[in-house]
Amino acid sequence: MDELVALCKRRGFIFQSNEIYGGLQGSYDYGPLGVELKNNIKSAWWSSMVYENDNIEGLDASILTNPLVLKHSGHESTFSDPMVDCKKCQARWRADQLPDNKCLSCGSTDLTEPRPFNLMFKTNVGPVESEDSFAYLRPETAQQIFTNFKNVVDSSAKSLPFGIAQIGKAFRNEITPRNFIFRVREFEQMELEYFVMPGEDEECHDSWVEKRLDWWEKQGLSRSKVKLYEVPDDELAHYSKRTVDLMYEFPHGLEELEGIANRTDFDLGSHTKNQKDLDLVAKVMENKSSNSKLAIQDLKTNKWVVPFVIEPSAGVDRGVLAILNEAYNIEALDGGKERTVLSLKPHLSPIKAAVIPLKKNNQEIVNLSSKIKNKLQKLNVGRILLENTGNIGKGYRRHDEIGTPVCITVDFESLEDASVTVRDRDTMKQERVAISDLENFLIRKIS
Ligand code: GAP
Repeated sequence: MDELVALCKRRGFIFQSNEIYGGLQGSYDYGPLGVELKNNIKSAWWSSMVYENDNIEGLDASILTNPLVLKHSGHESTFSDPMVDCKKCQARWRADQLPDNKCLSCGSTDLTEPRPFNLMFKTNVGPVESEDSFAYLRPETAQQIFTNFKNVVDSSAKSLPFGIAQIGKAFRNEITPRNFIFRVREFEQMELEYFVMPGEDEECHDSWVEKRLDWWEKQGLSRSKVKLYEVPDDELAHYSKRTVDLMYEFPHGLEELEGIANRTDFDLGSHTKNQKDLDLVAKVMENKSSNSKLAIQDLKTNKWVVPFVIEPSAGVDRGVLAILNEAYNIEALDGGKERTVLSLKPHLSPIKAAVIPLKKNNQEIVNLSSKIKNKLQKLNVGRILLENTGNIGKGYRRHDEIGTPVCITVDFESLEDASVTVRDRDTMKQERVAISDLENFLIRKIS
């Protein structure tokens, strides 16, 4: 983990948030390469969900959430972790994360009884601070999918089974954020709520577990490092009938990467049942436009049903950590040397190709390099970088370390024969490629 954290900082993937003021615990910032990697992961997920399935629609809902939503979803009453205080040094811990019930700071066993600590962040909405002018920062993206259920059904004429996908920030006031970006207070989730006929839920659940395993493998995770964890009944979230967690061997241990839950009709049912609260609010606001049932008509029977929900919910930040961990390698080279290489799947690489002029002061070579960069950039396959440092060896080392699949060197010969030297990150083999063939070459390499 330490090596990964150092690489992330050195090369501009991930920084401690608010570092110049001493940091803000449980928050991280994604730097120039981190934002590319993260966007590529999110875009691979979005393609696999929304673009490859005509019965899945996308959504981007608000983070600020009406407290009624989280009251009726059960989060106000149950979304908490057990917290204890050390009576000796006053440190606070999550009770279920203390081995042998000992304080992790001073080792004392003199701890308070565990008490529930609600993880939701509250914020004030509007200029007047009062008891009822607050909103929550959403603790999961899922609730806004449920509250938009009717909007999506009505506007996109869906019938069962169908899904709504969303990627976005979620916030949890974790008692002990830790392990770099694994457990943080502000993170991103990629969540799908897949609505099915009651009775078809169990089979559908199993098939999503398989699909999700497959997807993570395509992002570069070894199948042998991902384990399935059948969450026991006493650990299930309040809404879940069954949850299967995909556990990954992170540098700090085997931990949850994604949860795939059968949420039954709990959420849609609960938001429907509690319309009386909404009516009350509507009256107060003198706005009668109350919602209606979060249900859908079964086309075969014409009956209204509240569908069951299968929910694959993955953390983007945990995905970044797992993918970086898997890709990070130190390879032995001839002559006792070694190189650090990030063997990312090319579709995830922050930079798809680096164009390196052999001589940084030779205007003809630099101009040709720049033309090649612009031509490849137009392919719209991700970032192509003109790397004009004049040091080919350094350039190769840097791009190995950040996972760039190919480096393209423009030399004196290129000016004569309109070809360039292309070096492959993984094999380190070099070959001569005609400039006119470069677009096809790159597309083949990174797809
Ligand atoms: N909507 C269901 C839900 O939120 P969850 O298991 O609490 O379920 C889903 O969270 C995923 O979100 C987790 O598998 C994990 O990848 C990510 N996640 C949850 N809490 C996190 C945290 N504090 N920091 C980073 N990622 C987190």
